[in-house]
Amino acid sequence: MVAQRGRPWIRCVLLLCLAIQFALFAAAETFFKPFNVSYDHRALIIDGKRRMLISAGIHYPRATPEMWPDLIAKSKEGGADVIQTYAFWSGHEPKRGQYNFEGRYDIVKFANLVGASGLYLHLRIGPYVCAEWNFGGFPVWLRDIPGIVFRTDNAPFKEEMQRFVKKMVDLMREEKLFSWQGGPIIMLQIENEYGNIESSFGQKGKEYVKWAAEMALALGAGVPWVMCKQVDAPGSLIDACNGYYCDGYRPNSYNKPTLWTEDWDGWYASWGGRLPHRPVEDLAFAVARFYQRGGSFQNYYMYFGGTNFGRTSGGPFYITSYDYDAPIDEYGLLSDPKWGHLKDLHAAIKLCEPALVAADSPHYIKLGPKQEAHVYRIKTHHEGLNITWYGTQISCSAFLANIDEHKAASVTFLGQKYNLPPWSVSILPDCRNVVFNTAKVGAQTTIKSVEFDLPLYSGISTRQQLITKNEDLFITKSWMTVKEPISVWSENNFTVQGILEHLNVTKDLSDYLWHITRIFVSDEDISFWEESKISPAVAIDSMRDVLRVFVNGQLTGSVIGHWVKVEQPVKFLKGYNDLVLLSQTVGLQNYGAFLERDGAGFRGQVKLTGFKNGDIDLTKLLWTYQVGLKGEFLKIYTIEENEKADWAELSLDAFPSTFTWYKTYFDNPAGTDPVALDLGSMGKGQAWVNGHHIGRYWTLVAPKHGCQEICDYRGAYNSDKCSTNCGKPTQTWYHIPRSWLQASSNLLVILEETGGNPFEISIKLRATRVICAQVSESHYPPVQKWLDPDFIDGKIAVNDLRPEMHLQCQDGMMITSIEFASYGTPQGSCQSFARGNCHAANSLSIVSEGCLGKNSCSIGISNLIFGSDPCRGVIKRLAVEARCGSLPNAGFSQF
Ligand code: GAL
Repeated sequence: MVAQRGRPWIRCVLLLCLAIQFALFAAAETFFKPFNVSYDHRALIIDGKRRMLISAGIHYPRATPEMWPDLIAKSKEGGADVIQTYAFWSGHEPKRGQYNFEGRYDIVKFANLVGASGLYLHLRIGPYVCAEWNFGGFPVWLRDIPGIVFRTDNAPFKEEMQRFVKKMVDLMREEKLFSWQGGPIIMLQIENEYGNIESSFGQKGKEYVKWAAEMALALGAGVPWVMCKQVDAPGSLIDACNGYYCDGYRPNSYNKPTLWTEDWDGWYASWGGRLPHRPVEDLAFAVARFYQRGGSFQNYYMYFGGTNFGRTSGGPFYITSYDYDAPIDEYGLLSDPKWGHLKDLHAAIKLCEPALVAADSPHYIKLGPKQEAHVYRIKTHHEGLNITWYGTQISCSAFLANIDEHKAASVTFLGQKYNLPPWSVSILPDCRNVVFNTAKVGAQTTIKSVEFDLPLYSGISTRQQLITKNEDLFITKSWMTVKEPISVWSENNFTVQGILEHLNVTKDLSDYLWHITRIFVSDEDISFWEESKISPAVAIDSMRDVLRVFVNGQLTGSVIGHWVKVEQPVKFLKGYNDLVLLSQTVGLQNYGAFLERDGAGFRGQVKLTGFKNGDIDLTKLLWTYQVGLKGEFLKIYTIEENEKADWAELSLDAFPSTFTWYKTYFDNPAGTDPVALDLGSMGKGQAWVNGHHIGRYWTLVAPKHGCQEICDYRGAYNSDKCSTNCGKPTQTWYHIPRSWLQASSNLLVILEETGGNPFEISIKLRATRVICAQVSESHYPPVQKWLDPDFIDGKIAVNDLRPEMHLQCQDGMMITSIEFASYGTPQGSCQSFARGNCHAANSLSIVSEGCLGKNSCSIGISNLIFGSDPCRGVIKRLAVEARCGSLPNAGFSQF
């Protein structure tokens, strides 16, 4: 079939893009010409027009301001129209009434960058945000307000909440960030998934929802507000869906559009847990189904997850990385094929946008038992909304779904036959030609490698080895060390009878709370233990998150858990013994009702069992309390204060040691690849670089089992499906943003709690050096081809559009070698490709010619390109593995 000359709807899409770009360029100063945002039952209405919107979740404090422009640009390139973020109250108001909008909390700068790139912003103020963020985003001082009960009809809470929400709305207005001021903000959010816990508060919960909605509206922000997972979202507030799939979701009123505020494209991880992975075929299926069935706004939670720097990680027990298996990885690199496949999906959806917005609802056609079509047609008598955007010529777009988890299906739609892979959606922007199928991934796969591994002390464990090695290889020549006292260390200690609630004492200024007492052990106790073989034990009804028991200065046991029972055997000497209980938090609770009551530390009875005269009730004893670590409070991790500690050179045979600080200096590795600290040789603790807290670390190992060798994308996803990393530490690499580094002598300070070997700590560079792709003859031509002027002008016919393989290195890199290329029936996957029975002999030379020395290249998948047909009647594929390297003279020096 030859394309009709100048398919007008496609031409219009192209012209519109150009027009929008021109308009943005022209309006660079204020970003946009002021515009209004409203909505109807079908979609958000932006400047008078319904829109189908793709949104990318990025949480600004989970990256550095220096990373923001690139993250936003990569989101835009991936097809996002909107950036979505929460506002992080605990970061913005660390002390009551003292606001912080600097550095990673410079939300105004972030919003401006979003606007400057021509994207919209969805700001979810909360101020409860969940988000695996410490205390769900609440500042910890909030729990100290007398009479406060969070997230219910409680006057003290409402007052604080209103003050913060108003502060944010006023700030956005002052900075002219709302759409009607020419800014990027098109939508806000109040509360977060309150529907999940509303029933815990009875009638008061209902009152609170009404109050929150009215309070938000009264702030006069002038853009719509959403409440996610809130079936009773009042009045004009839009209730929105969060989940892995939201295609069946309908808001609580016919007048509201179907919005998906959180499409969980991966999941978060816990210390000692596996790493979740959501296959992109399933994710694309979920997204396509959503737009197929009437959805109009979908946000990837997360598009970039980032890092929980400092002690911002929620919990308990959420790891420092918030990579989330997102399309942009923790380090800001594209995670392909996820990013690339979604980019193709977004382009396909955008081709359908004219019909999607014009139709009030889709026309449903049952195609088979588990197959269905939804057709969006522009009715000629359509009135009201302006449908002349891309021209009225586009009259029909359709989605064909096969929701069968196992089998492919052949269906007939409008007289044509279509093959649908299992659990997939095909997108037909003109109701005829398939431009994309969610299960057919043509996008390249990127493999992240450690190109450089720079040991800080070269992993040497004996002095002899050190002497025989070339010392120039080491970034650092030595480690310094200082012990943390296992006792009181400041005037701020105090002594009272009984066990105090952990957070009431620490105010979360530190993870650590020392409880110190003395226990007298008599001769009779000693003989009793010897004779009875009973051992005394610390017994606590309930404890979270970590307890370390020290007797006479020695660590005798650790207990880890979330409100778990403790029975920790201990050994005492005759006479007085120092008993130290160190209670630790590992991220405060971020989900659930009554967070203000949750607290930390110990609950119930705290006893010593196994004594001759019965148990000793420790809650009756005098305890000395000390908050935090000496090194923490002296800030010995900063450049200015680190000399306050009595550092001594660490001898090579001195480790492992508990509660010990280590420091060293290292140079910034050359180049621009993201930098990571490999702490795989350590136990548990925290790390700082030049005073920046890069986060908690812990080498807890994930269970050996429960990972799938082969991840089958078909069927409903949950966070246990397709997980990876079994039997390995959940996290060993910790991101050090480049902007925190200076050229040389960067101060690295580590607090280690349990042991570990600092000599094996190394710096790594995260880079995409291996790229692979595999595209079949039966694949669809690249979606972007439909916007190709030659196609639009009819110079290329639809049937002449060929599938293509596209390879692209990171910016500044080029394809330096082709490790594998086979056009035929290659087997295996990236890094394990092998030739099949059918192989075109010139595969390697054709691909090398087309790709070597280039940042990106495309190779058509057809016999024409490879000269002849290597095996008639067989559907052929092209599989390629390539390596990327530095461009000559680009300033990327390698170690
Ligand atoms: C949602 C919540 C988000 C985040 C997510 C899981 O329920 O709204 O803030 O916690 O779960 O990553």
